[in-house]
Amino acid sequence: MRIVRAKDYEDMSRKAAAIIAAQVTLKPDCVLGLATGSTPIGTYKNLAAAYEAGDLDFSQVKTYNLDEYRGLPGDHDQSYRYFMNVNLFDHVNIDKANTHVPDGLMEDYEAACAEYDAAVAAAGHQDLQLLGIGNNGHIGFNEPGDAFVKGTHCVDLTESTIQANSRLFDSIDDVPRQAYTMGIGTIMAARSVLVIANGEVKAQAVHDMCYGPIAPSCQASILQLHPNCIVVADEAALSLCPAE
Ligand code: PGA
Repeated sequence: MRIVRAKDYEDMSRKAAAIIAAQVTLKPDCVLGLATGSTPIGTYKNLAAAYEAGDLDFSQVKTYNLDEYRGLPGDHDQSYRYFMNVNLFDHVNIDKANTHVPDGLMEDYEAACAEYDAAVAAAGHQDLQLLGIGNNGHIGFNEPGDAFVKGTHCVDLTESTIQANSRLFDSIDDVPRQAYTMGIGTIMAARSVLVIANGEVKAQAVHDMCYGPIAPSCQASILQLHPNCIVVADEAALSLCPAE
């Protein structure tokens, strides 16, 4: 695991965007695994600005998102499909047909989850997988538990995740209780992984991801086994990690 220290959120966002931009420049038809949440918004802004400046071309890029709330249609303003459109896809020249987010309304979800994994594999797996990290160490919506689940699946969100995400809904009762998420195997199959984190609220999770035991109680800890994982985090998120 390689840790890149950023001064603050803006610096983290610029550094993360530069890494993704390098991937798109080196392989214009790359497959990006993408994430939602507050953390990547600045990264996506920087990517959109690079596109506007004529420095990036997304016309051949394919994307697969990590997760989606169960029961939310893609046009719901809290769905992750909506988030991706508003924060990135609407601002760059990506072909929306090449962008994929699990369908929150999938009916036969076991078959649909298996199809999602098959589609990621058929695309050649992610060249680069962007990840945020939950306060509880989750990646995607792989919540702390007894096991690392391999494929895309349906999860019950933990109380801590529901609390953390309720800030974006009118009331906590509106937060969906379940979600679909890429599994740990699907994430680990990416050729490179870029984790971004900022703020003191992430400090314990970042410490456990980088230095804790590799255990499903901190799902992100499995990334210690990934051969090409970069963590870009600000000083506050790294405050419990040893200074290198
Ligand atoms: P956040 O979420 O970026 O909104 O903090 C990260 C996550 O839960 O993966």
